Amino acid sequence: MYADRVLSGMRPTGSLHLGHYHGVLKNWLKLQHEYECLFFVADWHALTTHYDNPQSLEEHTWQMVIDWLAAGVDPNRATLFIQSQVIEHAELHLLLSMMTPLGWLERVPTYKDQQEKLSDKDLSTYGFLGYPLLQSADILIYRANRVPVGEDQVPHIEFSREIARRFNHLYGKEPGYEEKAEAAVKKLGGKKAKLYTELRNRYQEQGDEEALESARAILGEAQNLSLGDKERLYGHLEGGGKMILTEPEALLTEASKMPGLDGQKMSKSYHNTIALREDPEAVSKKIRTMPTDPARVRRTDVGEPERCPVWQFHQVYSNDEVKAWVRKGCTSAGIGCIECKQPVIEAVLRELAPIQERARAYTEEPDLVRNIIADGCEKARDLARETMRDVREAMGLNYG
Ligand code: TRP
Ligand code: SF4
Repeated sequence: MYADRVLSGMRPTGSLHLGHYHGVLKNWLKLQHEYECLFFVADWHALTTHYDNPQSLEEHTWQMVIDWLAAGVDPNRATLFIQSQVIEHAELHLLLSMMTPLGWLERVPTYKDQQEKLSDKDLSTYGFLGYPLLQSADILIYRANRVPVGEDQVPHIEFSREIARRFNHLYGKEPGYEEKAEAAVKKLGGKKAKLYTELRNRYQEQGDEEALESARAILGEAQNLSLGDKERLYGHLEGGGKMILTEPEALLTEASKMPGLDGQKMSKSYHNTIALREDPEAVSKKIRTMPTDPARVRRTDVGEPERCPVWQFHQVYSNDEVKAWVRKGCTSAGIGCIECKQPVIEAVLRELAPIQERARAYTEEPDLVRNIIADGCEKARDLARETMRDVREAMGLNYG
């Protein structure tokens, strides 16, 4: 079994492009070999900003899942599911909303930023304010401890940690908690119990982080503690109650180096993308007509790669030899821009070929995709239900 559980979600934007591939998917492909992974379509999150047009959600969802699979996300390694098909997320979101101070939500930086950025929409809604809390529910319901996200999402992970902590503090003190924790300490065995107690005191009295780490390691390795006892002691160690919800950590994804066709960040709203399933002819044409160094008007003008978006593509796709050829040829007007673009065209097409091949298999057999998602939703539901049982119990909501 894996010690760490990774969870990440993407809002359904329809077909994905090379920016998504280099920025997110390649990272997922790596993670699926290293961790237990859950990847899901955050369709409810899309509704927080697109509540006026839910019609396209379903189509966008299937297109995005096909692109995940085409990119190489392996349904035998990762669990793929759709947020709205695991309604337990909504229940946890609701219960967490009871103990979430409004100020915490209003202070999340993306709240004001996005409202300003999408100023053509009325985003003074309850759902939009709750965006980070819904995201917390997504994460906490799977007790995921690693969440791969970009820089912009780090405040949301921080927020989720605070929510988990507050929940554990408020509801983690079951009746007889202290006695149960004491009994669990005894189960560690004489020597270990003594060491644990010393380390716990050192942490609680002096804030010694190393002591905290060592004590955690003792609990991690303890063979004779039940899961319940372990959760109790992880909380006890830090002076709180039982750890019902796990504090997640952001697994920071490096920003994508993939530029758009115009040299800005690749993004649908800039109309500068190459879609993963774009026709090879169209891909070649897009690259052939992309802008170059504006100073190179004629073939005989010398250019400067640093001013050219094509050069950024070479950074992603070309080896040192090709890059040296570009630099020399451009600055001496030895090569033309079409010539310079040729290796990029070839490299992009080479990268897309296997992706498009896999995509074809999935588009030809939509049932395959549906079954993968149905399986994934089922697995996700089982995990979510387990957490919800503990959450309900902790809050006194488990009616016979
Ligand atoms: N907010 C994320 C984004 O915009 C998507 C998302 C929703 C997410 N729930 C999540 C990411 C849970 C990680 C974990 O990219
Ligand atoms: Fe850009 Fe290449 Fe043309 Fe130089 S030769 S301006 S790097 S496309």
